[in-house]
Amino acid sequence: MQKKLLFDCHIFLVSILFLVWPHYASVVNLVRQPPRPIVFTPHNRPESHPQQVHVSLVGKNYMKVSWVTDESRVPSTVDYGTTPGKYDSSGTGEHTSYRYFFYTSGKIHHVTIGPLLPATTYYYRCGGSGPEFNFRTPPANFPIEFAVAGDLGQTGWTATTLNHMNATNYDVLLLPGDLSYADTQQPLWDSFGRLVEPYASRRPWMVTQGNHEQETFPIIYPNGFKAYNTRWPMPYELSGSKSNLYYSFDVVGTHIIMLGSYADFSDQYKWLANDVARIDRSQTPWVVVIIHAPWYNSNLAHQGEGESMRVAMEEMLYNSRVDIVFAGHVHAYERFTRIYDNNADPCGPIHITIGDGGNREGLAMLYKEPKPSLSIFRESSFGHGRLRILNNTHAHWSWHRNNDTTAVVADEIWFQSLSSSPSCIPKIEPNVQLTQVNDEL
Ligand SMILES: [Fe+2]
Repeated sequence: MQKKLLFDCHIFLVSILFLVWPHYASVVNLVRQPPRPIVFTPHNRPESHPQQVHVSLVGKNYMKVSWVTDESRVPSTVDYGTTPGKYDSSGTGEHTSYRYFFYTSGKIHHVTIGPLLPATTYYYRCGGSGPEFNFRTPPANFPIEFAVAGDLGQTGWTATTLNHMNATNYDVLLLPGDLSYADTQQPLWDSFGRLVEPYASRRPWMVTQGNHEQETFPIIYPNGFKAYNTRWPMPYELSGSKSNLYYSFDVVGTHIIMLGSYADFSDQYKWLANDVARIDRSQTPWVVVIIHAPWYNSNLAHQGEGESMRVAMEEMLYNSRVDIVFAGHVHAYERFTRIYDNNADPCGPIHITIGDGGNREGLAMLYKEPKPSLSIFRESSFGHGRLRILNNTHAHWSWHRNNDTTAVVADEIWFQSLSSSPSCIPKIEPNVQLTQVNDEL
């Protein structure tokens, strides 16, 4: 009898251990993510061959292909088609280069190709030589999947995040700022371009700027963003913007507004008023906003840095019934409830900080205690997010913490579009002067 009791106790304790271990292991995981060193990705192709290839959406049916060559005589042309090795179409674009103190960039090419079919894989070659690349265009209709990761940098953790995102077969990547962490060391922009090429050449990467893109220098480079604007031009003109630092675009029923946390708020506000006034929720039932410095943040890092922008623009986004606001900057993950003006509000956007891509500065480990009631989930781990919009009304958001080899779902939520809520009718400003905007090339 005593022996059986001991045996039962043993079984009970082992069961408890197995129940508790996954949670314990995940907690242990939180404290074993120190920063990893910078990965410098070398240039190992001939000088005339393309390097740092990446693609971005331009209008509804076009894609911009960007790349760099060391050789200046390479033409800015892209040959492409839907069969590997068979290029029955081609496009010609433009090229540029820039100087930053003693650094001179390679020849930076930008070629817009199309019109392209939706949900189609295109095979392409840049400048008439070098390896073949391929990308897949977004679908014509829901569902669509966005990968979201900010503050990427170029470390071992960045490589892990990129691998995990790549495994998801997403359609479009949204990057809320802080790309290369070159921080004026221009060869690191080239290294970053080579690191992300296997991913950014396969799917459109849509980015906005972070503080690490500024690279200002008194008198010589007072306006900053020289490398960023030259290497990562986004389709700002199509949305009526005069700056590469803020713009919007539509993809599969989703209107995405890329705001500039480090761009002039006055001109940006005027553009934003125009942009939100022309949102047609019957065409784009979802509205997503991307910023860099978060407006809501219970991490001790970067407290209050997004406040002036929040004061300037939150009311307009609220009245427009923006569904979700993604931010970076804080190197951690945090999901808030629907908010307007520091209060829970069923017609306000969900705010999510996703600045945990893996940069060299490491994680932001310290939080305000106790946790504010507006904050639903927060964790200092590297990782990425996935926004899967299924139809006009329903979407799924998940955050995937980086383990060494796998991505672990650590937070997830189903939510509905505000356009499907009868009590959240948009309040459009009546006096906005609409200016003409081109939808197509
Ligand atoms: Fe930042």
